[in-house]
Amino acid sequence: MMGDRAHILFDQDGHQCIQFSDLVVGQGIQSNQFLIIDQKSAALIDPGGDLTYTPLNIELSKRVKLSELQYIFASHQDPDIIASLPRWMMHTPCNVVTSKLWSRFLPHLASTFITQQYSKSMDDRIISLPDSGGSVSFGRSKIIALPAHFLHSVGNFHFYDPVSKILFSGDMGASLVEDHAEQPVTDFNAHLPHMKGFHQRYMASNKACKLWANMIRQLDVEMMVPQHGSPFVGKPMIAQFLDWISALECGIDLMDQDSFSLRVKEII
Ligand SMILES: [Fe+2]
Ligand SMILES: [Fe+2]
Repeated sequence: MMGDRAHILFDQDGHQCIQFSDLVVGQGIQSNQFLIIDQKSAALIDPGGDLTYTPLNIELSKRVKLSELQYIFASHQDPDIIASLPRWMMHTPCNVVTSKLWSRFLPHLASTFITQQYSKSMDDRIISLPDSGGSVSFGRSKIIALPAHFLHSVGNFHFYDPVSKILFSGDMGASLVEDHAEQPVTDFNAHLPHMKGFHQRYMASNKACKLWANMIRQLDVEMMVPQHGSPFVGKPMIAQFLDWISALECGIDLMDQDSFSLRVKEII
């Protein structure tokens, strides 16, 4: 079901954070894309693949000039995160900010012709983050890249906006919901069935979850918005998520010899 395309998460003093939840149509998994605007600077977070490029470009153009797109922040390398990169590279002057683990892989998405746009090479347009993350100046403020390795990708970052106090948490906190992904979680326990299986299979281990949650507890977060499904709004709801994920066994915790078995099943 199509709702309003733009969901305003924050809007104060020329600083806006906007979520798009229903740009994916057809077979692709429901995904959220995010736009941050600070006066005349714009950044996209996890803009997605081919499915979202055109509708997101239209939404962006309603608010800023394409020439004002300064950054694309990519939490990791998945198709639903960054497969649209060549088209953004071609039509805007943006730089892409991502883990150093993926900066040499992303050029595989972009042809030589595209990389030469705006008289800059692909290398000059990729900002590689070290494993420890760091801050990137944006508008009158900055965007902070926080390490989230193995949650789920080996080189993974979450992005924190200190102005809105929103944590853009990539696949962490993701839920599989049919529609109205813009509506915040109201009942944590009722929400669990939408996210438990996903975290058990996609997140690498409880150790990584626990260490990550310890870091996030020290941060002033008002809203945590995952790349799939519903946002977590307010400190009590976010604390509930952090407690849950800290205790969750997932990924390699759940593996045994059966996971690596030579029993060959006929697939087709
Ligand atoms: Fe992913
Ligand atoms: Fe994802």
